[in-house]
Formats: sequence, C-alpha cells, structure tokens
Amino acid sequence: MAMSTHVRRSLGAGALCGLLFVGGCGRDGKFAPVDMWNRSRYKPYEPVGFFADGSTSRPLVEGTVARGQLRTDEAFYQGTINGKYVTQIPRALTRTQLDGGTTMVAQPVTRALLERGRERYTVNCQPCHGLTGQGDGMIVKRGFAPPPSYHITRLRQAPVGHFYDVIANGYGAMYSYAARVEPQDRWAIAAYIRALQRSQNPQPGDMPAAEMQKLPTAEQVEKAAAAPKTNTPSTPGEVTTPHASDKANAEAPLGTLDKTPQKADQGVH
Ligand code: HEC
Repeated sequence: MAMSTHVRRSLGAGALCGLLFVGGCGRDGKFAPVDMWNRSRYKPYEPVGFFADGSTSRPLVEGTVARGQLRTDEAFYQGTINGKYVTQIPRALTRTQLDGGTTMVAQPVTRALLERGRERYTVNCQPCHGLTGQGDGMIVKRGFAPPPSYHITRLRQAPVGHFYDVIANGYGAMYSYAARVEPQDRWAIAAYIRALQRSQNPQPGDMPAAEMQKLPTAEQVEKAAAAPKTNTPSTPGEVTTPHASDKANAEAPLGTLDKTPQKADQGVH
C-alpha cells in the first residue's frame, strides 16, 4: 500500500528533528552534534596515548591467518614435499586429506590444463622466454638479460616443482610472478613448459604412427631442398628449408620484397 503524503511528511519532519537534537561526545569529551561525514574516530596507525605502543592499531594475535591464506598444503603451494621439489603436478588437497596426513595427490595433465598453461605462458612468460622457450622473447631482443633456454639439459631434468618455485619466488634477475599468477595457473604453466621441452626434444613414440607416416622421407626433404624455390605458400607437411632467395628477401629493404602472389589481385578493386 502506498504511503500517504501526510505520513511521509511527518516521517521526514521527525527524522530532521532527530538529526537536529541527537548529539554525542567528541574525542575531547565535549558535546558535538553527530556528523555522519566526519565521525569521531581514529585512523589506522594514528598516534594515540592510550596503548603502550602509542598506535591506534592493535598488532595481530600471533598465528593469525587471513581468510583463504592458510596454505599448509606444501606440495600445492610451495611445489615441495619436506623441502624437496615435487616431480609431479600436485592438486590442492582437501581439508580431510591434509588432516589425514596426505602429502600429495597428482593432478592429471589434461588438454585443458595445457591450454590454460599456454595462454598464461603467452601472457606472462613469452615476452622474455620466447614462443618456444629458447629465451629469445621480445623484451630480451630489446636488451633485457637473456634467460636460459628451457631446453638445456639442466632445466630439462629439473623437477616440475622448480618451475613452480621460479614463478612463485623469482630467480636471479627474474622477479616473482606470485602476485600475477595464481598457484593453479603456476602449475598449468609448469605443465606447458614441460610440453615445450618435449616439443624440442621428441622421443621415438611421442608421435602417433599415423602421423609419422605423413612425415616426408629423407629423400623427399633432400629433393625439396635441391628443387628451385617457387614462391608458393607452404602446404602442411611440406618441409621448408632456408633458401638463398629467402635470405635475399630477408635482407631486402621493406617495400622491395618479391610481391609475386599479389599480382593475381590486380584489377580486383
Ligand atoms: C622480464 C623477463 C622475464 C619474464 C617475463 C619471465 N622471466 Fe623467467 N627468467 C628471466 C631471466 C632474466 C632469467 C634468468 C635469471 C638468472 O639466471 O638470473 C629467467 C629464468 C627463468 C627460469 C630458469 C631458472 C633456472 O633454474 O635457471 C625459469 C624456469 C623461468 N625463468 C620461468 C619463467 C616463467 C614460467 C615465467 C612466466 C610466469 C617467466 N619466467 C617470466 C626473465 C623473465
């Protein structure tokens, strides 16, 4: 039911009187009308004589943990078990598992995890570490200290927990990404780095037999290399090897590149 104008008016008048006549004591103990904009209160860490340490803010009780910050799951949050790097990607443990003394449960490396890792890697790491992890990202090309390639033996053999640790805590000239990359994403990136490492050091059996069949034979590769270079776009499966003409194109000043394919477009506009 709608409030009648009369009732609304008297309510309004009542509130106004209330504001006018309600008052309180200021910090100095003197009467002060209540001022909702500038209340009599202390600011955090404002100097005050009341507490022994002279500050309005009280220290946190020892052992206080902010909500959501109780990270006792060492494998998931530190990448270690008893201080040693984990060798598999852990998943966050449940309270029951932690209370039951479980130290780690491996997280399956799914396509979704790798896709997420690739996406986060591209955003956060590729600018320095490069698309394939050779340490040749754009920032490095512009003068930043070059990181080591992920494909050196030491990093290939490093346990996956090391990659998590580097992201979380930084390493030498590389600063920490803890504030930018959440724990689960650190693991996704670590999984993706593993995939990058594998991509640059494939083992027999990494590729399904059907895909192996599609690869060109050694003779085909040689023949392709010997054949005069034609300016056709490469087709899937074709092996492209550097040609003298590529080098000429790479070194030609902009605008003088071979534009043969564009000739077909002439007269379209
Ligand atoms: C601003 C450039 C930069 C970015 C961005 C960057 N790194 Fe690095 N990274 C470096 C440099 C430089 C080093 C070498 C540090 C050193 O040895 O002092 C390094 C080293 C590393 C190493 C090797 C540590 C070792 O054991 O030698 C790993 C692994 C690594 N980075 C992972 C990452 C990951 C993962 C990301 C993204 C979350 C990332 N980095 C983002 C610059 C970068």
